[in-house]
Amino acid sequence: MPSECVFGAQWGDEGKGKIIDRLAVGADYVVRYQGGANAGHTVVVGDEKFVLHLIPSGILHPGKVNVVGNGVALDPQALLSELDGLLERGVKVNGDNLRISASAHVIFDHHRVMDSLSEKWKGDGRIGTTGRGIGPCYSDKAARTGVRIGDLLEAERLAPRLKAALAEKNAWIVDLHKQAGIDFDEQLERFLALGERLRPFVGDVGGEIRRAHKAGKTILFEGAQGALLDIDHGTYPYVTSSNTGTAGIAAGAGFPANQIGGAYGIAKAYCTRVGEGPFPTEDHGDGGYKLRKEGNEYGATTGRPRRCGWFDATATQFTCEINGATGLIVTNLDVLSAFDTLRIGVSYSSNGVNLDGYPAGLIDLEEIEVEYEDHEGWGEDITMVRKWEDLPAKAKAYVERLEELVGTPIVMLSVGPERDQIIPRGLEA
Ligand code: IMP
Repeated sequence: MPSECVFGAQWGDEGKGKIIDRLAVGADYVVRYQGGANAGHTVVVGDEKFVLHLIPSGILHPGKVNVVGNGVALDPQALLSELDGLLERGVKVNGDNLRISASAHVIFDHHRVMDSLSEKWKGDGRIGTTGRGIGPCYSDKAARTGVRIGDLLEAERLAPRLKAALAEKNAWIVDLHKQAGIDFDEQLERFLALGERLRPFVGDVGGEIRRAHKAGKTILFEGAQGALLDIDHGTYPYVTSSNTGTAGIAAGAGFPANQIGGAYGIAKAYCTRVGEGPFPTEDHGDGGYKLRKEGNEYGATTGRPRRCGWFDATATQFTCEINGATGLIVTNLDVLSAFDTLRIGVSYSSNGVNLDGYPAGLIDLEEIEVEYEDHEGWGEDITMVRKWEDLPAKAKAYVERLEELVGTPIVMLSVGPERDQIIPRGLEA
């Protein structure tokens, strides 16, 4: 297996955690390169369910090196709570199998406070963020006022940067929003203590993975969120603040883009979205309600009910194309067993004119109309199926139609949350 990437091909929550856990078997390194604790990657191992927010999903496999790259917006408290939770459950985590970039940006308390105040301020224009401080942290990074994990290791480096940041942020929090300010001394002491706990894990991880790659090791890049939440190519401004797909790897992990051997887009057999923003194939009626119920569509990070709708072939074709997907992995196919009729959004039109593919920013996605194709459901349980040949003919026809519309080979199907509920279709893992 060459070095490869897994990315979300929709709006996140596509079931990446399980697929990464599966592909991690063949990898030496598993690397997160963007996002932060806004992600929630769920992996079910036997009777145990693990929800990972920051630590790469490879941590559940002994012998893999898990890397948090420089592009991650890292909340030290969230990472350490996750680490403690894993240790309590008997998962081995130490400085050998978890590596954190010294250049990853730190999420402080003021970032979370600003995230929620800014959402309140926006009112109806709110994004519906996860409230994890992601946007404000990346804003500081771009404004060059951020603090990096390496800075937490030296009081002389942290103190002036934190002081300058808090002076400005407190003016915003106290003067504009009339909320209690954040105390510099308390923050300095607490974040230095958090830095001390992180010290054994911190290093130049970009250099480590480049050396490992040269030595023939295999790297698996774990994208978080989804390509339609990408800061540049997603449904702006209803997006997250990072490059969620393959474009984020070079910047967020220090790994050359031309060395990425393959990219697997992950898409549910239908579609979900949390937070605000356009969702062309959303089903506001019984179909959407039933998809939420059958798919247990509630956020792994915030517990929010997800908006539900049908597979959007136009948007998925776009996300696979822009990320250079070499394969598509379709998850939650089993959820569709409960439906007599399945819908696929096959194309978009605007003012009665058919659009050629996904519109680039110029046409408001809220305004477009979707043309659907209806397919008869297969109406039987497929959670025990492990081979493509054993799937009901109507399920095969549905998958083949998705493949044809998206124009990317569907290389694997997932038919349940367990590790082994997989149907390989070209990609063995
Ligand atoms: P933020 O990343 O918390 O700033 O949220 C921005 C938007 O991205 C909101 O609509 C969130 O609901 C969405 N979002 C962020 N992370 C995830 C995720 O892991 N899964 C699904 N949606 C997400």
